[in-house]
Amino acid sequence: MQTRGAAIAGLGAYVPDKVLSNEDLTRIVDTSDQWIVEHTGIRERRILADDQNTSDLAYEAASRALQDAGLSAGELGLIIVATITPDMPFPSVSSIVQDRLGVSGVGTFDLVAGCTGWVQGLATAAQFVQTGTYDHVLVIAAEALTRVTNWTDRGTCVLFGDGACAAVVSPCEPGEGFLSCAMDTQGDAGRLLMIPAGGSRRRLTPELLADHQDCLYMEGHEVFRLAVRGCPEIASQALANAGVPYDAVDVCVMHQANLRIMDAAARRLDIPSERMVVSLDKYGNTSASSVGIALEDYRQEHGLNPGDIVLMIAFGAGFSLSAAVFKWV
Ligand code: ACO
Repeated sequence: MQTRGAAIAGLGAYVPDKVLSNEDLTRIVDTSDQWIVEHTGIRERRILADDQNTSDLAYEAASRALQDAGLSAGELGLIIVATITPDMPFPSVSSIVQDRLGVSGVGTFDLVAGCTGWVQGLATAAQFVQTGTYDHVLVIAAEALTRVTNWTDRGTCVLFGDGACAAVVSPCEPGEGFLSCAMDTQGDAGRLLMIPAGGSRRRLTPELLADHQDCLYMEGHEVFRLAVRGCPEIASQALANAGVPYDAVDVCVMHQANLRIMDAAARRLDIPSERMVVSLDKYGNTSASSVGIALEDYRQEHGLNPGDIVLMIAFGAGFSLSAAVFKWV
């Protein structure tokens, strides 16, 4: 019997100021605004400044979430950062953010799940809060995808942007806040989406660097196919775990990778398009942070009401799929 729930008590997002439009990209690769809009729905994205790192984006989003929750960093029990573009292989971004927040005695870890990182981070935080292990857990997703983009590959470089989001997960009444999640990983499809070199398997050499093997590689068609099939399935599982019917979903936030994937998933889930949150036209695919940035964008523009059922769905590296259901408090 659950004695307490876990809710998003504060939310924040941060995107860098610098805008890179589709028109700007036509001066870098052989592409067009029309192609990018028709094939993805993206119109522009944000790029971090030369002197910004992933932890800077994370810190900004975290500060906003803490302010929104009305908490000081010293009240946190744990900091989780979801990222595939850390400042460096180690120490973790979460430990760097802890230092920037000026607190000690707070546990930290990073979570490497690609674009599903935010949903997995929230689900993880909810377990700690529901069990009473920690009262307040800060979950951050922060990505600097443009730092691992191959700017000669038009099939991928038009897709990505930089940004961060954060949430403070805190106790609430049982049966409110986080209701359920579902996760799946198809490890045999991991090769579809990766940074091929720079790890223990293939150390970077000048030749591999020249061949952009330190950059994101993606088999777009296959990822598209797996996402269209997998997202409705994982969302259905999460909704079934929560005992929530499809038509009770008030707000659905999917990973902002491609408008066509979102449309296809919404059709299969029978969720009306006006309940689907879209922000990829402004920010592109910001990997782990895309769902949280879109959610905060929606909240700022339309507001979220207590009792609203929020469904989050994400897919990405692994090949991983996750969905979570929240009853907003
Ligand atoms: N501009 C102009 N033409 C292009 C571009 C571009 N930027 N990119 C590809 N093309 C061309 C191709 O070369 C191809 O030309 P050809 O027919 O002469 O060979 C043609 O356009 C069609 O290419 P497709 O790859 O079939 O285009 P598609 O409609 O499948 O769109 C895309 C490609 C956008 C990558 C799509 O497959 C997709 O969105 N896949 C899923 C990606 C995704 O969701 N990733 C999320 C996980 S990654 C992460 O989040 C970190």
